[in-house]
Amino acid sequence: MAEHRKFRVGMVGGGGPANFFGAPHRTAILMDNTAELTAGALRSNPQGSLEEAKRLFFTRGYPDYQTMMREEAALPTDQRMDYVTIVTPNDSHYPIAKAALEAGFPVLCEKPLTITLNESLDLVRLTKEKKLPFIVAYTYTGLPMVMLAREIVRNGDIGEVRKVEAWYPQGWLANRLEETGAQQAVWRVDPHKAGASGCGGDIGTHAYEFVRFVAGLTAVQVCARLKTFVENRALDDDFTVLARLNNGAVATIGASQITIGALNDNGFRVIGTKGRVEWNMTDHLCLYVYKPGAPVSVYRLGGGESDLPASLAGYVRLPGGHPEGFHEALANLHRTIQLQIRHARGEEAPAPFPHPDVVDGAAGMAFIEAAVASSSQNGAWTDVAAVE
Ligand SMILES: NC(=O)c1ccc[n+]([C@@H]2O[C@H](COP(=O)([O-])OP(=O)(O)OC[C@H]3O[C@@H](n4cnc5c(N)ncnc54)[C@H](O)[C@@H]3O)[C@@H](O)[C@H]2O)c1
Repeated sequence: MAEHRKFRVGMVGGGGPANFFGAPHRTAILMDNTAELTAGALRSNPQGSLEEAKRLFFTRGYPDYQTMMREEAALPTDQRMDYVTIVTPNDSHYPIAKAALEAGFPVLCEKPLTITLNESLDLVRLTKEKKLPFIVAYTYTGLPMVMLAREIVRNGDIGEVRKVEAWYPQGWLANRLEETGAQQAVWRVDPHKAGASGCGGDIGTHAYEFVRFVAGLTAVQVCARLKTFVENRALDDDFTVLARLNNGAVATIGASQITIGALNDNGFRVIGTKGRVEWNMTDHLCLYVYKPGAPVSVYRLGGGESDLPASLAGYVRLPGGHPEGFHEALANLHRTIQLQIRHARGEEAPAPFPHPDVVDGAAGMAFIEAAVASSSQNGAWTDVAAVE
């Protein structure tokens, strides 16, 4: 049996003084003492990239991702990185993920997977051809109560799903924040960097993933209204979709960046013939299950691990009363790719939870492209391309 050791993780993007999401990933990678920060191409300029890798104590820094993939692949197997985490703006996910897969490295990539469906389909093809693990970082699917909701729905406890409501409101782009030069805002309102839908690509994809991950269903047709409320903005800042799902169920999927005061309070209701599950980020330690004629059941993280199915073992770190949250959710996605890699190596390891993979990432892009097309035709019902 292969020896179990710490994972050597590579990171592309996620550096620089104004960066947002690199630090949560580094926290997540280091959280369980199972991995170390090995290879970094952390910024878009070569000098800055090298300096940042040094400042953040990566073992090896590289001027750019192409050099990183080439030189890491040439290292002996007991030194080279084990997988790559991609934390750059959306437009570069595709070339970076492609380069990683071609060099033989598993990938944990930020959402949305790419900026076009064609790019995503190419990554699906390449991942299958190379037989490599590929996780897409829909962070909320790493929260234990969201994972539990999936188990409850998939076990048939609420019967056949009739309807899914999924939402993700934010308010930070209610005004022209991009004019102040705020880094995260500037690229998120630029179609060349963000893709064909701003709000939909950024957070509508998170809401749609609740439909796929929790309910196990997929949109086959959509009727969408994408709206740009803030003047002179090139992309939508509000995203509303009505969907027909593959089992005949109905879904409403809403996201907004102009909901002043919203607290990333995404969530979902999955409504079945025998009951309903409901979860919201502002109350993420609880999962509510409703059955007709019965008192509401509340599962609480920290309220008794014996309530949790075995599939969640290892995805919960602290005893009751000690809050776990967003960073732990991201660490859970890293845990899953690490378990997948261990299985691929023939090591004995616990079963990984089925977190979103490259197919889910591509399905997110199929959904976005259909929503953009529908909205441009005044909400005409539009087919969503099937992704497998
Ligand atoms: N899963 C989540 O919950 C979540 C949350 C926030 C952001 N994100 C995603 O993370 C990604 C990054 O978002 P952000 O808010 O951190 O952006 P950001 O603007 O804060 O940071 C982007 C970083 O990428 C670097 N970069 C750009 N091009 C590069 C290249 N070719 N090579 C190396 N580095 C490069 C920049 O220097 C910068 O450090 C986006 O795809 C976003 O959608 C996901």
